[in-house]
Amino acid sequence: MRPPSAAALKPTPHERMDPGTRHLARRAFLADQYRLTAAGTERARAAGLVNADWYKPPVARALMKTLLQRSDTGAIRDTVLWYALIVTSGVLAHFALGTAWAVPAFLLYGTLYCGPADSRWHECGHGTAFKTRWMNDALYQVASFQVLRRPTVWRWSHARHHTDTLVVGRDPEIAAQVPTRWSVVLGNIAGLAHVSGELRRLLLNVAGWLDAEEETFVPESERPKIAREARIWAAIYLCVFAACIALHSIVPLLYIGLPSLYGAWLYHFFGLTQHAGLPENVTDHRLNCRTVYMNPVFRFLYWNMNYHVEHHMFPMVPYHALPRLHAALRSEMPPPYPSTLAAYREIIPALVRQTRDPGYSVERPAATDCRGRAMSQWVAAGRLDDIDDEDVRRFDHGGRTFAVYRMGSEVYASDGLCTHEQAHLADGFLFDHVIECPKHNGRFDIRDGRPLGAPVCIALRTYPAKVEGGRIFIEI
Ligand code: FES
Repeated sequence: MRPPSAAALKPTPHERMDPGTRHLARRAFLADQYRLTAAGTERARAAGLVNADWYKPPVARALMKTLLQRSDTGAIRDTVLWYALIVTSGVLAHFALGTAWAVPAFLLYGTLYCGPADSRWHECGHGTAFKTRWMNDALYQVASFQVLRRPTVWRWSHARHHTDTLVVGRDPEIAAQVPTRWSVVLGNIAGLAHVSGELRRLLLNVAGWLDAEEETFVPESERPKIAREARIWAAIYLCVFAACIALHSIVPLLYIGLPSLYGAWLYHFFGLTQHAGLPENVTDHRLNCRTVYMNPVFRFLYWNMNYHVEHHMFPMVPYHALPRLHAALRSEMPPPYPSTLAAYREIIPALVRQTRDPGYSVERPAATDCRGRAMSQWVAAGRLDDIDDEDVRRFDHGGRTFAVYRMGSEVYASDGLCTHEQAHLADGFLFDHVIECPKHNGRFDIRDGRPLGAPVCIALRTYPAKVEGGRIFIEI
């Protein structure tokens, strides 16, 4: 045998790194997975996570119709009250100028200016706050400015967030990426990360360009609108700067512009409760969203976005109907968090653990029946037509992988991986109700999972499956 060459014995660049540098390189590699233009996107697509079929509990049509009713009255009342609070705090801040009271007064003003603008931006973006369309659009534009989110870009960003929630390489709005980078988390809470990123992209938009990642979800036809909005915003900021120069004072900027920075902490405080620490790359909102009971003041400021599981499942339901939707779905949901504090008791330790262990995520308890027993659920697993007769297809759900088999009009389902080693049975060969593993030809009966000889000796777990209206459902 020839000895290995000197080149083969040479350490790779990775091996030459000292442990600290290697650790940083690994973190950079993991952070890169979130880029919408990186390999993570292709991995998400290959895993069937792009535009996947998400779990949705059944809701009676009659009930859903009542929940979907839009109304101007409540949203007008809430909006008038919100702006009255902003104006009042702004007047207080004005009278506090020149005293130490100016600091808390402006903090209050900025918090009211920017914090609730997040949920108003969000609800009006969905078009569900008001019944009247132009009211949604008008408040959407103003709230976008207050929270510093370019209106058209973020409308598309949020649509993607709903399609591929917490899918790495697809979702542009994953706030707490793993491993946890505390500089980013704390930078976000201080508003710095968001504001600096948005201002850089705003300048690109003023010039008529778009960030490369944003190009992946914004249609080409939207570019003129994005440039127009960016130029209007730039003109407003220039007016504010001009006022500062004319008055030899930073006060105009403290009222318009800077609140998007120093008032941002509130929406990050609310926003982290939505998904932080929960598993990525699953297709069930009960696993990757939180519903948190909040007090009435928080619910007003946050426009009921604390019912976040329900919102993700049914984004057409307006904010004022979310408590009723939550009540209707209680039996289908994991238990809600009793308070914001309770949510943070879970989030902070989870983020700390994810600093060192990127594979960790919080596991939500399953939905339970009235006796606290875990309930199984029928999950939609694609269309019958999508599987050829006597064939098998892979189906991923809730972080697990399954194999779905078709024999004529009959369907069967089992765990997706062979019980011998890690091989996907969906890559195997199906004949006469027998699936043959692609790796070592182990065979299972798909009707009950029986192993049919070496090298497999452990039974495959099977699941009830049925076809309704041309769609396959499996009970897991
Ligand atoms: Fe399936 Fe070996 S991995 S038989």
